[in-house]
Amino acid sequence: MSTWAIVVAGGSGERFGQRKQYLALGGERVLDWALRSAAEGSDGVVLVVPADQADAAEPLATAVVPGGATRSASVRAGLAAVPDDAAVILVHDAARPVPVPGVWQRVRAAIEAGADAAVPAVPVSDTLRDLAGGTVDRSRLVAVQTPQAFRARALRAAHAGAPDGTDDASLVEAAGGRVVVVDGDPANIKITTPVDLSLAELLCR
Ligand code: CTP
Ligand code: MG
Repeated sequence: MSTWAIVVAGGSGERFGQRKQYLALGGERVLDWALRSAAEGSDGVVLVVPADQADAAEPLATAVVPGGATRSASVRAGLAAVPDDAAVILVHDAARPVPVPGVWQRVRAAIEAGADAAVPAVPVSDTLRDLAGGTVDRSRLVAVQTPQAFRARALRAAHAGAPDGTDDASLVEAAGGRVVVVDGDPANIKITTPVDLSLAELLCR
C-alpha cells in the first residue's frame, strides 16, 4: 500500500506567542523533527506551511503547500497535494516533534487491519472539572494525539464539503467511518505554550 504523510505547520501559534513550529529545538527547527518522523516509512511527505513560507526550501519534504485559516483547511490543502494512488494517509502536527516510532507503527497497523481511521491516545491524569459544576469521570476519557492514520478514501470523503474539526478522526467519524484508538505515548507532547518547548528540549536529544 502506498503511504503518504501530511505534516501541518500552517498555524500562527497564538497561545505560544509566535510560530512555534519554526523555533530551534535540539539544533534544528521543531518542524524538522516532525518531518523526519513522517518521512520514515512513507512514500512522500507534504508539508503545509503559512502562506508566506510556501516558497521556502524544505529539503525534508516532498512537496510544500500553503495552509488555510483553520487546521482542517490546512489538512485539505495538504490532501490536494497527495497523489491519487496513495492508499494510506498519515496526518501529523508539526508541533509534535518528539520521535515516537511505536506510535507511527501502531496507527499504520490499525489501518492495515481494516480501520478507516486510527488515533493514538493517552490517559488523562488530571482531575477534570466541568465548569458548569461537577467532576467528569476521567476513566472514560483519553487525550488524542497525532500521527493519525487514515484509509485515503475515508479521509478524502470526510473532508468533502470543507467541514471544520480539531482533528481529522472526528471528521471521519462524523462521515460514518470507523475510528480505532491505539496507545499513544505520553512523551508525544504538542508544543502549545513555552513550557512545552522546555519539555521537548529534554525529550529531543
Ligand atoms: N495548523 C495548521 N494550520 C492552521 C492551524 C494549525 O497547519 N490554520 C497546525 C499547526 O501549525 C500545528 C498543528 O496544526 O502544527 C496543531 O495546531 P495548534 O497546536 O493549535 O497550533 P496553532 O494553531 O499554530 O496554535 P494556536 O492554536 O495557539 O494558535
Ligand atoms: Mg490552533
